Amino acid sequence: MIKRIFSAVIISLIFIQIQAQPKIDPSSIREKMQWFADAKLGIFIHTGIYAVDGIDESWSFHNKKISYPDYMKQLKGFTLKNYDPAAWADLIQQSGARYAVVTTKHHDGVAMYDTKMNDLSIVKSTPAKKDMIKPFFEELRKRNIKCGAYYSLIDWSHPDYPGFLKDSSKYQVEKDYDRWNRFRKFFQGQISEISTQFKPDLWWFDGDWEHSAEQWESEKVRSIILAGNPKAILNGRLQGWGDYDTPEQNFPVSRPKFNWWELCMTSNDNWGFHHDNNWKTPYEIITIFVDAVSNGGNLLLDMGPKEDGTIPDEQVNILKELGSWNKKHGEAIFNTVGGIPQGHFYGPTTLSKDSTSLYLFLHGNVNGTVMLKGLNNKIEEISVVGNGQKLTHKVVGKISWSPVPGLVYIDVPGDIKDKYVTVLKLKLDKPIKLYRGQGGLN
Ligand code: GLC
Repeated sequence: MIKRIFSAVIISLIFIQIQAQPKIDPSSIREKMQWFADAKLGIFIHTGIYAVDGIDESWSFHNKKISYPDYMKQLKGFTLKNYDPAAWADLIQQSGARYAVVTTKHHDGVAMYDTKMNDLSIVKSTPAKKDMIKPFFEELRKRNIKCGAYYSLIDWSHPDYPGFLKDSSKYQVEKDYDRWNRFRKFFQGQISEISTQFKPDLWWFDGDWEHSAEQWESEKVRSIILAGNPKAILNGRLQGWGDYDTPEQNFPVSRPKFNWWELCMTSNDNWGFHHDNNWKTPYEIITIFVDAVSNGGNLLLDMGPKEDGTIPDEQVNILKELGSWNKKHGEAIFNTVGGIPQGHFYGPTTLSKDSTSLYLFLHGNVNGTVMLKGLNNKIEEISVVGNGQKLTHKVVGKISWSPVPGLVYIDVPGDIKDKYVTVLKLKLDKPIKLYRGQGGLN
């Protein structure tokens, strides 16, 4: 019995692996991915009718916390009466982010623009009566910030989508291809609309888990998008037909193997506006951000505006604090590459693209010395990023004839401390070389 369960688990693991195999050859997309790799920080915006009552976006009716008719009553309360897309774009720019991703339609099926594919949009069915995507993208583009469109493949309001409640009986797509085809025409029609009207630089699909690549026609979806904009980047939630991975809320413990990845994360414990005060502190956000970048990834930090279009003060504060930290330390973050492998330094690191500068990130209280192992370079200079102060160091344990490089101790006086994370820059004599041998003569 145990053996059977074991082999079933192994088979399903292999299946998941096969399913998750990306279909895209990384070398074919390297060039278009460059801005994304350099950008490091994006801002995610979950805006939708769920902000009216401040309940879980779409999931609240799916999980039956609220009935579907009651959820939909929120349409009447979505006003956007204080929506100021220029102010949103200013705040995003201030945070240091290089791209933003906004919900064009969540799983509830309510389009945030004037879709012609049905009447369920904030333009036709709410007092807001306007498209919120176009003016926002215009403001972002004025500030050189790349524009991303979140689009939920799942549509729990569409009559031809199979099942909108957690346990509602779903029709079998295989048994009713006419019905499924009607839905496919609908969602692919919306993708064409978004593509032609807003020309997103990045597509952020969601909900691919409910159907296979064949059922979504992921390859076709990809080609519709790339026909409109060959440089568009697609996130990985397209059953293998996207360009990068999206670990959600989950900070990878060891460095992910993906070429490109982005941690998407809430700033409290919800994506949309909610009555939830468990805000992350700027210190927590900055340390998570640094950790992602040091592991070769990006952070997509979420905010959830209110139904009137204003952004909660706590979120504004987080973005502003993150922005001032970025302003001071941007050199160690933007346009860098992931740092050295764990074990050489007890903390996050990044490298300049030519790998002749190594940045060390020191969390919290620093006062005393920090140590670096296995650095096979000469350090030309150590400075504090953002204030330029020079620091001294010494190398111990280096025997002239041995390949072991010894340990580097850097003196860190308490008065250089940043309020959140202090950054040191080590200028090296040549591209970084690490010693990972066993000691002795090898
Ligand atoms: C999940 C959820 C969704 C949320 C998204 C953001 O996939 O279904 O509600 O928008 O994560 O990453």
